[in-house]
Amino acid sequence: MKIMHVDASAKRERSNSRALARYFLERLHEQRVEFEVDYLDVTVDTPPHVTEAFAIATYTAAHERTAAMQATLALSDALCARLLAADALVFAMPMYNWSMPSAFKAFIDSVTRTGVTYLNAEDGSIVGQLGRHKVLFITSRGADLRAGSPYESMDALTPALKAAFGFLGVAAPTFVDAQPLQFANPEARAAALERARGELAAVAARWAEGAPAANHEAEALCPADAE
Ligand SMILES: Cc1cc2nc3c(=O)[nH]c(=O)nc-3n(C[C@H](O)[C@H](O)[C@H](O)COP(=O)(O)O)c2cc1C
Repeated sequence: MKIMHVDASAKRERSNSRALARYFLERLHEQRVEFEVDYLDVTVDTPPHVTEAFAIATYTAAHERTAAMQATLALSDALCARLLAADALVFAMPMYNWSMPSAFKAFIDSVTRTGVTYLNAEDGSIVGQLGRHKVLFITSRGADLRAGSPYESMDALTPALKAAFGFLGVAAPTFVDAQPLQFANPEARAAALERARGELAAVAARWAEGAPAANHEAEALCPADAE
């Protein structure tokens, strides 16, 4: 299976979301799932913000686009092709100011494309093109936004991701949210990471069911966590 793995934390070695994504891929490897990874770090290769030229080109019918419009859309076309070529998507990101990192929002703005990642059916309905993809969101949060916490209502990240990818056909994405981290005491932080790792191991086991098995021995892919 081909996995598109996207990281979005501004941190590198100290990033928990990056470490948890590596941990997940290591668990998949241990489960002897055969997979290749198409890796994108949106903090390094950040998709451009929406420009006026993009906004016009993207809603111009493909057969009516000028060469300049095609050039404007070329990066987005390439990103959409990568997304559509994958069988599974692993998106790892921190919560920033209750929502997603702006680099990941730029990614969403690049891959939400009429006639490419979603189609307009004749009956007026939208047909998202990511319906066959397995999708895992790994999010890391400084505070605790779980049900019952005072911050529960501040979670603008989960609904935004569900809406954006639901529109592209992802009906039931999996979320593993590591929380509370930065703004918690060491014990609570350690417990949150342990909970997240347990959930990720369970997701890897689920993904292994029915996936093609690798015939090589599992190797360590994952260094220690951070923060
Ligand atoms: C600019 C910035 C904004 C943040 N905003 C929030 C927030 O709104 N809510 C929250 O719970 N944590 C917030 N945090 C904390 C991060 O979500 C937390 O440290 C997370 O573990 C970072 O993930 P990472 O280790 O992968 O970078 C923020 C951190 C930064 C740097």
